[in-house]
Amino acid sequence: MKTLITGGTVVNATGTATADVLIDGETIAAVLAPGSTLLGFDLAANVDRVIDASGKYVIPGGIDAHTHMEMPFGGTFASDTFETGTRAAAWGGTTSIVDFVVQYAGENVLDQYQLWHEKAAGNCAIDYGFHQILSDVQDSSLVAMDELVAEGVTSFKLFMAYKGVFLSDDGQIVKAMQKAADNGSIVMMHAENGSVIDLLVQQAIAAGDTAPYYHGITRPWQTEEEATHRAIMLANLTGAPLYVVHVSAKQAVEQIAAARDNGQNVFGETCPQYLYLSLEEQLGAPGFEGAKWVCSTPLRSRAEGHQDHMWQSLRTNDLQMVSTDHCPFCMKGQKDRGIGDFSKIPNGIGSVEHRMDLLYQGVVDGRISLSRWVEVTSTTPARMFGMYGKKGVIQPGADGDIVVYDPQGRTSISVDTHHMNMDYSAWEGFQIDGHVDTVLSRGKVIIDEGQYRGTAGDGRFVKRGLSQYLV
Ligand code: URP
Ligand code: ZN
Ligand code: ZN
Ligand code: ZN
Repeated sequence: MKTLITGGTVVNATGTATADVLIDGETIAAVLAPGSTLLGFDLAANVDRVIDASGKYVIPGGIDAHTHMEMPFGGTFASDTFETGTRAAAWGGTTSIVDFVVQYAGENVLDQYQLWHEKAAGNCAIDYGFHQILSDVQDSSLVAMDELVAEGVTSFKLFMAYKGVFLSDDGQIVKAMQKAADNGSIVMMHAENGSVIDLLVQQAIAAGDTAPYYHGITRPWQTEEEATHRAIMLANLTGAPLYVVHVSAKQAVEQIAAARDNGQNVFGETCPQYLYLSLEEQLGAPGFEGAKWVCSTPLRSRAEGHQDHMWQSLRTNDLQMVSTDHCPFCMKGQKDRGIGDFSKIPNGIGSVEHRMDLLYQGVVDGRISLSRWVEVTSTTPARMFGMYGKKGVIQPGADGDIVVYDPQGRTSISVDTHHMNMDYSAWEGFQIDGHVDTVLSRGKVIIDEGQYRGTAGDGRFVKRGLSQYLV
């Protein structure tokens, strides 16, 4: 199958150009001056399909490097399976995810890794890779880290919070970092001071402060800044590259920026919820409504200016990229476990379908440039996690992962129209001044004219290389 996408504005992280894109099979074969013939050969007359992208943007498919499909967490499972979650991602212009293999204390890392392959294989609408979560860092886990790097799992997430669930102590973190420094992999950190948070949560519940709002109050920015600083120091000590996930506090960004100024390989990701939503408006919604937005790190105070600072940090590259941390739970039967005790609300928000749109709105609003949009949602994720060249760019030789995005289109976000397996939308009523028109995954049209045209199992496992973002 040969496809020609004609007349669009091709947007890469490096700039924009009006060009035609020829896809042969699964791969981009050429990026050509519009209407050009190839050695006298009329392309449009000789391909199987022409997609007219006039007036539209042609961008590399989105890469969401932080998702949790069917994650066992908070006594339940994230409500999107690999099948429903990756299909929803496709609807929103995301053509690759990197999800997390979970290892709880006592479990064997490689057993868990096999289990996650079984969950994902044959079910995904788009390509997928894995990061590996490490909780206790057993001797066998250190050996597994080398084996996983050879398997294309080149990043490891550790947690400084969730004692008894995920938390690794500083010694365990250092052991994993030493191994990462040695084998070239990257350490991802959930940077929150878990023991301080556990104390504040106990005190809040004892005082009768049980509403979802107190989820935010008991995870103050100091607990994020402190843990971020500590993670940076441990990375400095060991020489491991560090990627701080779901950054929400402006003070944590300043720690990351200072480490970068200091020449360390330290990076940060934020998420759409930290760009748009707040402690006051969402977590503080009346009654139990705020549970919809219980996630960790928590939504921050708008009065303190965190949201504006996140946008600004994306612009200055103090933060490098945006993932969703997609971890959806329904209100009914899942979030409602925490009525009367916010600490029992499963932590997570679902946004995998909306990341490209929500960040595009940042272009419309003058927050980031068009190329920066592509960079933070696709190109940097590809480079950061060892996929660039095949993913994250429109150029010959790259996978035909392409989104035709219509800047004249409109998208209204609602639980009534989204494709995620959730009984509410964290983004209800949001209006986007743009629209995902057509999505191709390795040359196959999977979204077009408001229809899903793919099948479960189209998506393949991506064997990733080492990070291409390190200095
Ligand atoms: O609240 C969150 N972020 N849930 C997902 C697990 C994690 O820590 O990323
Ligand atoms: Zn986390
Ligand atoms: Zn700054
Ligand atoms: Zn997460």
